[in-house]
Amino acid sequence: MARTLAPDRVVPLLTGRFGSPYLHRLACTSTQRLLQPGLPEGAVAVCEEQTAGRGRLGRTWTAPAGAAVLCSILLRPPPGRQAAELSLVGGLAVAEVVEEALGAPAGLKWPNDVLVSGRKLAGILAESVSGAVALGVGLNVNQAEGDLPPDARTPPASMRTVDGVARDRAPLLAALLASLERAYDTWGELGLAGLHAEIARRDVLAGRRVRVGELAGIAAGIDAAGALVLDTPSGRRAVISGEVSVSALDAP
Ligand code: BTN
Repeated sequence: MARTLAPDRVVPLLTGRFGSPYLHRLACTSTQRLLQPGLPEGAVAVCEEQTAGRGRLGRTWTAPAGAAVLCSILLRPPPGRQAAELSLVGGLAVAEVVEEALGAPAGLKWPNDVLVSGRKLAGILAESVSGAVALGVGLNVNQAEGDLPPDARTPPASMRTVDGVARDRAPLLAALLASLERAYDTWGELGLAGLHAEIARRDVLAGRRVRVGELAGIAAGIDAAGALVLDTPSGRRAVISGEVSVSALDAP
């Protein structure tokens, strides 16, 4: 397989704490499963192909071998920080890397999707592992249109379907780990407040009519705790988890 994410291609590009140790497999069930709790913070698991990739809410996550960045990072949030906020922290880090690579704006669809032109380019999954957090990132890079899942709730995209460019994933992964480390350190120090402006300006739901479970209303932003704020007929409500339904999303 050409241009893999093998350690000899990625580790020399790493500039920070994240990626040590760097675990790489050609195939695995899910990178989320490769992170053993005894590993240090910043351990990263990567594979070329997942046979049982996991999405949010029990969904699956699929990508052809060698086409996407599929990775999980082991994190140990400092006391007082809410691990649930890490989906937004990860989403922001991915959005920044995507914007730099594509030269186009990326949006965040609360709580865990990264969109370009209304299509989902990446998803983030935060799961607990014996008191730590495995933060999984699936970023679609080189898939052709026909490689993307036909039944996704939000129409999917890859970086290649956006701009026609096939990319080496190694520098993208290195940039992603650096971006995530920056965002994570800011969050550790200041909480979501330290990232709020950057998250808010990418919030694709703000001002839109949405539904989360039984609640329907106008999305009024993401609050300091990472909750989705909804203006409903019975007043302002903060939603801490759930699946957002929204009619077709405009760019980004
Ligand atoms: C979602 O949007 O539902 C979250 C998708 C997260 C997918 C990534 S791919 C790498 C890591 N391993 C998994 O099994 N899932 C996450």
